[in-house]
Amino acid sequence: MTDNPHDDNPRRRDFLYIATGVVGAAGVCAGAWPFISALGPDAETIANGAPVDVNLEPIAEGQIAKVLWRGRLVFIRHRTAEEIQKAKDLPVSAQLDPQEDSLRVKEGHEEWLVVFGNCTHLGCVLLGHEGQHGGWSCPCHGSEFDTSGRVTRGPAPSNLPVPDYVFLDGGTSIRIGVSSPDQTV
Ligand code: FES
Repeated sequence: MTDNPHDDNPRRRDFLYIATGVVGAAGVCAGAWPFISALGPDAETIANGAPVDVNLEPIAEGQIAKVLWRGRLVFIRHRTAEEIQKAKDLPVSAQLDPQEDSLRVKEGHEEWLVVFGNCTHLGCVLLGHEGQHGGWSCPCHGSEFDTSGRVTRGPAPSNLPVPDYVFLDGGTSIRIGVSSPDQTV
């Protein structure tokens, strides 16, 4: 996984996507800047838990974008049709914390998976497109997660949690940190 924008393999172009728009008191949100940007919200604002808006349009199919929200890493994965099918087909017997893929994504937006990005064992940052099921693997003690963020190999005890979020703008962006588009913080 590299941050090289000139790499032709979209799976190798996963990028850090920190500078999202923070939803202000008036509900105004800014656009998103790909890659690290000094224009992003300050750490105190993020730490206070303001929702963040993320423009999904620059995230190519197969890519995993990374966002910081409340100081926590969030992965936004634009799943391919193959990755979606693999998630649907994963037998319960291969899951350590069984859960339907459909309960981890939004209906009608199955191509988007939004999960916290730290291993549920001791919190290491996971590596994307790794592991037996092509989801993530943990470089620390070898846990693996599938393309739905479900743990398939321990010692991690549980699936990657899904934060509250909603789709906006006809599905071209998401707001992380709210459970309905009208929610004010
Ligand atoms: S922190 Fe991931 S397996 Fe230990």
